[in-house]
Amino acid sequence: MKVSVVGTGYVGLVTGACLAEMGNDVLCLDVDPNKIRILEEGGIPIHEPGLDAVVARNVKAGRLAFTTDVARAVAHGTMQFIAVGTPPDEDGSADLQYVLAAARNIGRLMTDYKVVIDKSTVPVGTADKVHAAIADELRQRGSSTEFAVVSNPEFLKEGAAVDDFMRPDRIVVGADDPKAIALMRALYAPFSRNHDKVLVMDVRSAELTKYAANAMLATRISFMNELALLAEKMGADIEQVRQGIGSDARIGFHFLYAGCGYGGSCFPKDVKALIRTAAGENQGLKVLQAVEEANDAQKLVLVNKVVRQFGADLAGKHFALWGLAFKPNTDDMREATSRVVLKELFARGATVSAYDPVAMDEARRIFGDEPRLRYATSPMQALEGADALLIVTEWKEFRSPDFERIKASLKSPIIFDGRNLYEPADVAAHGLNYQAIGRGLNV
Ligand SMILES: NC(=O)c1ccc[n+]([C@@H]2O[C@H](COP(=O)([O-])OP(=O)(O)OC[C@H]3O[C@@H](n4cnc5c(N)ncnc54)[C@H](O)[C@@H]3O)[C@@H](O)[C@H]2O)c1
Repeated sequence: MKVSVVGTGYVGLVTGACLAEMGNDVLCLDVDPNKIRILEEGGIPIHEPGLDAVVARNVKAGRLAFTTDVARAVAHGTMQFIAVGTPPDEDGSADLQYVLAAARNIGRLMTDYKVVIDKSTVPVGTADKVHAAIADELRQRGSSTEFAVVSNPEFLKEGAAVDDFMRPDRIVVGADDPKAIALMRALYAPFSRNHDKVLVMDVRSAELTKYAANAMLATRISFMNELALLAEKMGADIEQVRQGIGSDARIGFHFLYAGCGYGGSCFPKDVKALIRTAAGENQGLKVLQAVEEANDAQKLVLVNKVVRQFGADLAGKHFALWGLAFKPNTDDMREATSRVVLKELFARGATVSAYDPVAMDEARRIFGDEPRLRYATSPMQALEGADALLIVTEWKEFRSPDFERIKASLKSPIIFDGRNLYEPADVAAHGLNYQAIGRGLNV
């Protein structure tokens, strides 16, 4: 099938590459010429495990190409995926300007039947707006070319995006046009060979499904984070509680890890957007409001522990920070807890040496030559001259460190672990003070 993907970011590039992998003829469009240049030169503008090989294979086979030429992209695909960003507007609602700009481009230039597919995470009712924008463009030039708008939210996880796309749990298709539904089923059939994963539903239910999924996952995290705070006060261990409840099949083990707050480009913005959507309908979402508040507070939990240890004024203190990305296996720092931690430490007068296996360039882009931030070339180098260590991202390479070396490098042998990487007793056995999240009374 001929497929165009508008927006070549985390979702668009993975979608384009994986659809090409299944034999489709894919053209990816982006307004960012730098991104397209990198891709045309054989590079990958983001860090996503396994993506480089899929992209290279399909470019070589002639099934995947990149462009900044809107007219070429509109002409190319019968299937037009919109995978542009939907960042939060000032009031927290999803900003649809990029989605609607993409839709207008399609309406302005299309000359034959198109299925326009909302892959971006968009509020309920957006497909109607996309439909209206395209219809308006067609009307302006007196065209009666047919088209359908489909909602096809994406559930991939950064860091495992290729696997998630190639082996999805489900493929949600919100549509009411039989021709478009048939084309979507055909496009996704190769991803659904073991059993039918395509769930066809009405457009609005599909749009709400995406927000409901992220809201549920965020709720589990904030729930565990608040329980962890209670566990700390009462001398209980959240890790044992996690195992105690996760073993209940109705609850399950996934997304029950306490930590220093969720970040990323999805949970914070989608929770906010759903709250805004509901407010617009005079429908309170009290649970989700609490989820968001709890998460904002949780991002400060590590700094609160530092302050309890070293005092509110951290002038002259220097900290090592392991992990900048919002989660492992990505360089994405959007809404990352590390940003809140760094900002708070700087505001209190501290300096920081930070290390991340892949997000160092992204940190440099965000913080530039911030004088209070040094960029370490290894986890151990970050420790040099530091008063204590803060861990913010659970990268595998932080899981089994040389605790003796950590102890010898730090001025005060303290680890503030925002991701509960270690067994408290093991760390304590090395003479380190280990302050994790909800792991009983601080050792
Ligand atoms: N990142 C994730 O893990 C994830 C998962 C599921 C859903 N989503 C959703 O998918 C959407 C995209 O997210 P992302 O993380 O891929 O964003 P991103 O910022 O990585 O990519 C968006 C791309 O769209 C481009 N763009 C903007 N306007 C354009 C236009 N008019 N024409 C062509 N290109 C345009 C931008 O230059 C950018 O490269 C969002 O709605 C997001 O909520 C993201």
